Amino acid sequence: MEPITFASGKKLPLEMHKVRIVQKLNLPPVERRLEAIAEAGNNTFLLKNKDIFLDMLTDSGVNAMSDNQLASMMIADDSYAGSATFTRLETKVNEIFGTNYFLPAHQGRACENILAQTFVKPGNVVPMNFHFTTPKAHITRMGGRVEELIIEEGLKVVSDHPFKGNFDLAKLRALIEREGAGNIPFIRLEAGTNLIGGQPFSLENALAVADIAREFGIITVLDASLWQDNLYFIKKREAACRDMTPLEITRALAERMDIIYFSARKLGFARGGGICMRSKELCDKMKELVPMYEGFLTYGGMSVREMEAIAVGLEETMDESVISQGPQFIEYMCNELIARGVPVVTPPGGLGCHLDAMRFLPHIPQAQYPAACLASALYIAGGIRGMERGTVSEQREPDGSERLAEMELLRLAMPRRVFTLSQVEYAIDRIAWLYQHRDLIGGLTFAEEPATLRFFFGRLAPIGDWQQKLAAQFRSDLGDSL
Ligand code: F0G
Repeated sequence: MEPITFASGKKLPLEMHKVRIVQKLNLPPVERRLEAIAEAGNNTFLLKNKDIFLDMLTDSGVNAMSDNQLASMMIADDSYAGSATFTRLETKVNEIFGTNYFLPAHQGRACENILAQTFVKPGNVVPMNFHFTTPKAHITRMGGRVEELIIEEGLKVVSDHPFKGNFDLAKLRALIEREGAGNIPFIRLEAGTNLIGGQPFSLENALAVADIAREFGIITVLDASLWQDNLYFIKKREAACRDMTPLEITRALAERMDIIYFSARKLGFARGGGICMRSKELCDKMKELVPMYEGFLTYGGMSVREMEAIAVGLEETMDESVISQGPQFIEYMCNELIARGVPVVTPPGGLGCHLDAMRFLPHIPQAQYPAACLASALYIAGGIRGMERGTVSEQREPDGSERLAEMELLRLAMPRRVFTLSQVEYAIDRIAWLYQHRDLIGGLTFAEEPATLRFFFGRLAPIGDWQQKLAAQFRSDLGDSL
């Protein structure tokens, strides 16, 4: 299905749903925003929702649910064991992925814990297109390490490559030959590669990875958390898949994967997660860890209401007019920003719009955390909360020196079906205003730096009084506006 064309020629994404439940928003004035960001130690994770207008921190657990999802929650079957709700979810998951077994878990990282504990031994190496924070943490905790095999184009901020999340197949083969298949517990394929801007892999590339894995007898693990965006891009950008339905594409990939896991905070528009597979042997290896860490095998730490909503949400994910909404809004936002000269990651991916802080703030050295400075400045300029994805999100080297990130991005997530186009226009306007005044933005330094997960809990302080100057500029340009 092509997007609806406007007779005027305007290129606008059109919502294929109507809003029936709303939540009131609050936009505090710039003076209060200045206080709030100081109270939060310039860390957007520490801001309070009452101070936020557009929450673009993440797409995790905050996507809008449908009427059918809400309705399904009313028939949830609350029982410790053998719940009919579990059977419904298991049936739906197996129908979509063509699998036979489903282990429930409370969210994506819980699946990663189970996978790492079951398969990763000290000294092992786990190849993947690109790392994500939580699977990497679980693999390294078990004594393994991660090898990133993304194609070179994947690390270029500006590109027109349709599948920047692809594996470099030659590198994968070389790694297996170097390490030996015996030292590789599994290959992890991440759909909608999160940390490089929500960039997809092609079906062709993923199947080629599966071929190589099979040749060497290595298990493949698909992280399907961001599959819905990746699926949409395959349908749109991969010529061989143009005439396939979303379900056919999903099945074509899933049937070649040994294990599929997902965060249902993203895939399925609700909150939860789980691991699917065809082989009883693989299921038996992991099964015991579910009651140990999550909950009994028929709920795995999830509320039955959420499980019902996931089953419906997965079904809805097979509808192109549902999964097109996120990518279309993101594409619109990126293109409008590009038209105003603002540097963003291209091509537009899934998940959100990613501002390139290195080019936005070339005067701020990486040691002063440009992506964090931009996050702080955008909150002051518009009450918009993004997520720093740069050096603050890295961990220091063992010798205490700073590990400078490959990219300094400010991720502005687009929770699915949550924002209207005028809210997106507002974000574009404030970002463009900020870009005009980018010289006013200054650096940040750590005031409190925890040894681990500093991006969650750390507190930063501005170097100089740039934030006051930015707020004063806002007042002088925008008068009484909030
Ligand atoms: N895999 C991917 C690709 C993810 O993006 C996430 C979470 C996880 C696994 C872990 O799932 O949160 O349910 O435990 N990403 C969130 C984000 C946190 O904001 O991008 P989880």
